[in-house]
Amino acid sequence: MEIAAIKNLAYEIMGNKEEVPHGEGYRLAHGYRVGGIAEWLAHELGENDELVFIAGVLHDIGKDKNQNLESDGVRHGPRGAEIIRKQFIHYMSINELERITNMVENHNARPKSKWFIDKEKPVLPAEVLIIQDADLLDHFGEEGINITLNWGRFFKKSREQILKEWKYGERTQRMHEEVRRSLNFEVSVVEFDRRIKIMQDFFAKF
Ligand SMILES: [Fe+2]
Ligand SMILES: [Fe+2]
Repeated sequence: MEIAAIKNLAYEIMGNKEEVPHGEGYRLAHGYRVGGIAEWLAHELGENDELVFIAGVLHDIGKDKNQNLESDGVRHGPRGAEIIRKQFIHYMSINELERITNMVENHNARPKSKWFIDKEKPVLPAEVLIIQDADLLDHFGEEGINITLNWGRFFKKSREQILKEWKYGERTQRMHEEVRRSLNFEVSVVEFDRRIKIMQDFFAKF
């Protein structure tokens, strides 16, 4: 795998992409963080960590903010896999390409999520489940504080409104429960709880 060439191309495609409300290049930085979390998870679970790192970097490459947001949520995985098949094919073996595109394509098909209640759940390799968990985890903890404040600023919320929604908001509570339930590994749940604690401590003093 030609790691430097992959990173260069990822930077070219995502490095200056504007993402409201987080600013330019957010998607690439999120990718690198997800790669790091995925690498750590893979290590904890005894899985291959080089491929999951690269899949983490690339997982949201199909996000297109000009698209309808609703459909983008579901389609950016497959669209990302398509981009990787077309543009990254020369930088990895066929086997690596297949595994990475599988991780990118299915990063939102979480078997334990509400979307698969009473339905046939997707059966996916551990490395795909690792990317799914890493992606969720990056929205909490220190980064979760930034995300909350970015959205607060974007919607022109007052400090009281931010606090009220974060601390007592039913939607926040429901979202946390859904995320926690969707995580595939026990070690991810422990990490999620640790990250929520960081956010609670921050907003307790905000
Ligand atoms: Fe995504
Ligand atoms: Fe993501």
